[in-house]
Parts: sequence; structure tokens; C-alpha cells
Amino acid sequence: MSKFLLAAVQAAKIAGVIQKRFYGKPLTIELKGGNPLNLVTHVDKQCEKAVFKHLKKRFPSHVLWGEESGRPSRKNRWTWVVDPLDGTTNYAHGYPFFCCSVALLDGERPVAGAVYEPLRGELFAAERGGGATLNGKRIRVSQVSKLEQALLCTGFAYSVKETGYNLENFKRFVLRAQGVRRDGSAALNLCQLAAGRFDGFWERGIQAWDMAAGSVIIQEAGGLVTDVTGSPFDVTAQNALASNGLLHKEMLEILRNSPDEKNFRPSPPTTASPSVPAAELPLFQKRAPVKKKRK
Ligand code: IPD
Ligand code: CA
Ligand code: CA
Repeated sequence: MSKFLLAAVQAAKIAGVIQKRFYGKPLTIELKGGNPLNLVTHVDKQCEKAVFKHLKKRFPSHVLWGEESGRPSRKNRWTWVVDPLDGTTNYAHGYPFFCCSVALLDGERPVAGAVYEPLRGELFAAERGGGATLNGKRIRVSQVSKLEQALLCTGFAYSVKETGYNLENFKRFVLRAQGVRRDGSAALNLCQLAAGRFDGFWERGIQAWDMAAGSVIIQEAGGLVTDVTGSPFDVTAQNALASNGLLHKEMLEILRNSPDEKNFRPSPPTTASPSVPAAELPLFQKRAPVKKKRK
């Protein structure tokens, strides 16, 4: 394992420790840009800080690009792209499906990545030319070659209530595939595909930090990653279509004919609006506190 991949693995695990520590406990939650769907917790921020500290110590000249702090304008051959907590909505609701994703870009090309899911203790890792692993064991994409036998996965952008985007795609895939899942962590979804658990994945509205690590892991596991039109994958393009390779053509055909794609217009870049505090939300407001029985 190169010093780069080792650092990525260590950093993702450091975040995992923090995620486990606060999981199920009261969280400080804010709404990003005031969007009630787009949460950020103190755990997202704490994880990013800890991951950055680890990477900065090892590679002081490298650029650090994190979801919570943004992309610095400073240029260097090497850029680390970090999603400190992917699956924040799951995390805030106590749904056990979230991870930390750490990837290294050489220029704009992802070359190494680690994704750690702390609750199951699953560590997905890969670097260019070295194969992909889950907890140290080689993984491969599936061999499913028909959509009718495929388990697919997708996600919906936080703007879905305004745009309705992906509802039509979703319907079309549900009616064709064996099953379609939407479980709220794109980085982890890509790794599930690399491990052969999912056979295909598509999403628009995802960001470099969601896809960078997963894209290398899938490619090194023998899968294919492009954009949703079939053009070469671009980590900054905000969309991805990933599959075991065998399903790519069929998936592209469905997307190409779907009104969601035909009518898709990229939204104008939004000016970064500050987070709006949503007060100190006790995590499980929806659950009554459990009272201890008196003996
Ligand atoms: C989100 C998750 C989700 C995907 C969204 C992402 P976050 O990331 O990966 O699965 O559908 O597009 O923004 O906000 O939990 O880090
Ligand atoms: Ca994310
Ligand atoms: Ca995140």
C-alpha cells in the first residue's frame, strides 16, 4: 500500500471513530443554505477537521478540499477530496448507513481512495493499478448482465422538491430492474457496487467528494464509471453512472429516453449561503425519552 493510500485509510478511520462516538446521541444540526433537506451536524465538521489535520501533517504541500470547507484556489499536483460524513441525513436519524470518504486527485483524476463505514467496520480501498479491497480482501463487481436481474441504486439531489429531477428515471428503473434502492450515502453506494452487492448506480447532483474515492474503487474492482450521458467520468461534473460494465449500455438507454434527462438543465451556480442554525435539535425528538423503571 502506498503512503498515499495508507494516509487515506487512516484518515477515514479517524473520522469513523468520531462518527461512532456521537452516533445516536444529541447532535447540533444546521440547515445548509436554509434548505430543510440539507443538514450538517457538528460531527461532519469535527470529522473534516480531524481528517485534514491527519493529511496536512503528512503532506503539508497538498491541497485539502473538503465538503464543509470548500475547494481552495491554491494549486498543487495533489488534491485530497474529503466527504467527512457521507449520509448525514441517515446519521441524524440514527439510520445505520454512513461513512467517511477520502480520495486523492492527481490533477483532476482520482488515483486513490478509502471509504470507511464504522458501524460494520467495512473499509473499502483502492489505488490505480493496485486492485480494490474490502478489509484487505480483493473485491470484484458482479456479473449480472440483465437489468431484470439487477439491483440498482440511486440518490436524489437536495433540490428534488423544486426540480422533481430523477423521479421519472427512478420509476423507469423500478419497472425494469429486480430492485432499486435509495439509501442516502453515494460514496458507500459506489463501494457496494464495487463489492458486487449493487450492479448499477446513477445520480445527478453529486459532488467530487461523494464520488472521487468510489470511482477509483469501482474501476479497480473491474467496473465502469462514466457520466450519465456515457461520456468519460469527470469528478467535477456533478453526476455519475456506474455499473459492473455489463449493464452500462442498457442503463444509458433508459436514461437517454427519460424525460428527466431530455429536459435536464443544469441549475445556475448558487452563491454560497451561510448555514442556518436549526437550534440545538436533540437528535431523537421523534422518540420519547425512555424512562428508567423504578425498582
Ligand atoms: C449525500 C448522500 C446522498 C446523495 C446526495 C449527497 P451527504 O451526501 O451521498 O446519498 O443522494 O446527493 O449529497 O450530504 O450526506 O454528505
Ligand atoms: Ca456526501
Ligand atoms: Ca457529507
